Amino acid sequence: MKVDNNDLRTIWLDEKEKVVKIIDQRLLPHKLVIVDLKTSDDIIYAIKNMLVRGAPLIGVTGAFGVYLAVLNNEDIKITCDKIKSARPTAVNLSWAVDKVLSKILKTDSYIEKIKIAKETAYEITEDEVQNCKKIGEYGLKLIKDISLKKNGETVNILTHCNAGWLACIEYGTATAPIYAAFDAGINIHVWVDETRPLNQGARLTAWELGKYGIPHTIICDNAGGHIMQHNMVDIAIVGADRVTYTGDAANKIGTYLKALSAKDNGIPFYVALPSSTFDWNIKDGVKEIPIEERNPDEVRYMEGLLLTPKDSSCANFAFDVTPRHLITGFITERGICKASEDDIMKLFPEKA
Ligand code: MRU
Repeated sequence: MKVDNNDLRTIWLDEKEKVVKIIDQRLLPHKLVIVDLKTSDDIIYAIKNMLVRGAPLIGVTGAFGVYLAVLNNEDIKITCDKIKSARPTAVNLSWAVDKVLSKILKTDSYIEKIKIAKETAYEITEDEVQNCKKIGEYGLKLIKDISLKKNGETVNILTHCNAGWLACIEYGTATAPIYAAFDAGINIHVWVDETRPLNQGARLTAWELGKYGIPHTIICDNAGGHIMQHNMVDIAIVGADRVTYTGDAANKIGTYLKALSAKDNGIPFYVALPSSTFDWNIKDGVKEIPIEERNPDEVRYMEGLLLTPKDSSCANFAFDVTPRHLITGFITERGICKASEDDIMKLFPEKA
């Protein structure tokens, strides 16, 4: 994506230096800092501490982590397990690591392993870019239809957390249709949930949209219900970290509340995801999707400032699951489908 006229991705490989380059997302929107990851330990640190974040991006980062591990001649299976457990909810991480691992295990040659690991990490990267592009093309139709119904009046879109290009490589998932609609000249305005405790909406989504020139307004997380009740939202589009083959979707904590509110107010609620975010083994999202619990200090402090009484206990559930009956549909790289096993399988028949 263009940032101040420069093309920028969230991750790339410096082949000469054998170093993975990433944007340290903890510092945005105030500083744009590129960090070098040289070892699989650096990769694990970056994922755990959310220098990189967002389901597709942590998948790609994990894939490059396997490449670095092979390069450094590590015990590959042990390292892969460590990378996979860096963050538990987004299934993209284990999907991508396993994809690279399964390919390198087919050869005994060190040189060949390095080549395969690098090629596979690149392949996953480019596939995710194309997937997000397609999500944008399919999602555009939804926004276009609303715009036509409103005779060209502004379409108000609500999004949660950051499912933008920063969470992916390019375009984003939830933001891909937003960028496509803006490029198509449709009048849009985006409600950006701040997304406590780490404020990915207020810090990252707002930064992305601002750089692209897209009108947006940041709201505190609790405002969603109010603006939906007052006809100020036409459609909600969010990303996902893991979606069951039956249609339950895990995403950043607070997504479920937005879906409940959207249902109560008759507002279409879409989840945008690439196929790497489907978990083809899990049936019941609420019971089976592992929900990451992060350091309570992320709730206690905001930008280094202690908000709470020092002794109060805090809990930090990082994700929640929106059950399928609250989801209008999924926007995927293969098209749009309802949140049901039958419809998902129609789009991905090879998984049936
Ligand atoms: O904890 P994070 O910032 O990694 O959570 C990210 C989200 O929940 C995103 O909405 C999700 O990964 C979709 S990414 C396109």
